[in-house]
Parts: sequence; structure tokens; C-alpha cells
Amino acid sequence: MSNPPAIRLGLNVDHVATLRNARGSARPDPVRIALAAIEAGVDGITAHLREDRRHIRDADMARLKAEIPKPLNFEMAATAEMQRIALATKPHAVCLVPERREELTTEGGLDLVGQRDALAPFIAKFNDAGIQVSLFISADPQQIETAAQLRAPAIEIHTGGWCDAVVDGHKEKADAEWRRIVEGAALARAAGLEVHAGHGLDYATAETIAALPEIVELNIGYFMMGEALLVGIAETVRAMRAAMDRGRATLKTRTA
Ligand code: PXP
Repeated sequence: MSNPPAIRLGLNVDHVATLRNARGSARPDPVRIALAAIEAGVDGITAHLREDRRHIRDADMARLKAEIPKPLNFEMAATAEMQRIALATKPHAVCLVPERREELTTEGGLDLVGQRDALAPFIAKFNDAGIQVSLFISADPQQIETAAQLRAPAIEIHTGGWCDAVVDGHKEKADAEWRRIVEGAALARAAGLEVHAGHGLDYATAETIAALPEIVELNIGYFMMGEALLVGIAETVRAMRAAMDRGRATLKTRTA
């Protein structure tokens, strides 16, 4: 039996900056949390430089790139301004997301089908620069096929709808969303895409989704930051890593 591919944990540090900005001071420092999380075992750090700079700022991105010893995933809208900053920052990866000023968080996935013509040269520029592009989309077959046609190396499946349904106890909706994710992950992998997932994940949903062999990266922020307030970032990272490992282990048993 071959071992299932490892699954990476990426920590999103946006909300450390949200807390810092609430007082307009320098603390808490997102880079310090990132370093502590890496020390505890995360595989990479994600940060979203929003158009309105509501949490992460340009200087945070530059410091993360300069100071963290693990891959930086630069989350961004597909705008000319963000592309210029990302190309100058040279992160390991960029994750392209839709962005609306009035939203509380990234509410939906990208519409690749509608934006195909604009996105093709945008993605090509990152491919040429050796920066991995990941497209944040719902697990919709048309979006997944378009991602492959756009020559993006990776997608990140939006897990928000599934996670909300699980937490709210809407079993039918949760089951339907889960099936979409399972089928979408398989379709994406078959199309040659690297598959990531994220949004709304907690210990239970991360454990469940880690059992899908196609998924090689989870990006998690809000829940882990909330937990970190209670038990600290190191303990939170260890608990999340353990949950993901438990999920991955069920895969090993199934394929043995
Ligand atoms: N992945 C993407 C593309 C996101 O936009 C977000 C939210 O910033 C996350 C993952 C993490 O979501 P959450 O903060 O709910 O864990």
C-alpha cells in the first residue's frame, strides 16, 4: 500500500491584524503569531491583502515574506494593483479570491466561467514568475473544469457552505455540500489540479475533510484564532494537526 499524500496546514493570520488595528497600535503582531505557529508545526502562512486594507497591510505582507521560514500564501483579488504587489513580494503562492468591500469575509468562490478572458493572462503572469496560483472556487464541476483550462496549478475549494451547515445542524444541506466537495475534489485531481480547501473549518470538519486523499492543503484562520485566545496558538496548532492526522489515518486504513 502506498502512503496517502501528506496534508499541509496553512494558518491564516488576518484576524491578528484585525485585533491589532482595533486599537491602531503595533500589537498583537501577525508576524510574531506566524512564527509561533510555525514553531508549533504549521506548514505555511496565509494572509489576505484586501483592497481596503482592513486587516493585513502592505508592510505586514513584506515582513511575512522576509521573516517567516515557511511558504507564504498571498491571498488577493485579481486586480492590477494586487498583482503588482504580489509580483514584487514573490510569495510561494497566490490565492485568487473574489472581494466585495461590504462583505464580512470571502463569502463566495470566484466565477471563473464569467471572468475567463480576464483571468487567463492574469494567471499566466504568475505562472511565468514561478508563483503558484490557487483559485478559490466552489466545488462546481464547471468552475473546476475552467480552472484546469485556465492552466492554474491549484484550486482551493470553498468549504464555508458545508461548515456552516454542519455547525448549524442542517443535516440535509451538510450532506449535499459534502457530496459536492467529495466529487469536486476527485474531478479536480483527475483534471491535474492540486486541491486545497478552506473556509469555516474547525477541528471536526478539518478531521473529516483530511480523509479525502485528493486534498493536500487546508487553510484555516478564524476558528484557530478563537481557540488561540483560550489555549494559545501552539496548543491550537497541535490540536488541529492531530485532528487532521486522525482524518488522514482513516484513509490509510481504507486503502490498506
Ligand atoms: N481560504 C480562503 C481563500 C479564505 O478567504 C479564508 C478566509 O479568509 C480562509 C481560507 C480561512 O477561512 P476561515 O478564517 O473561516 O478559517
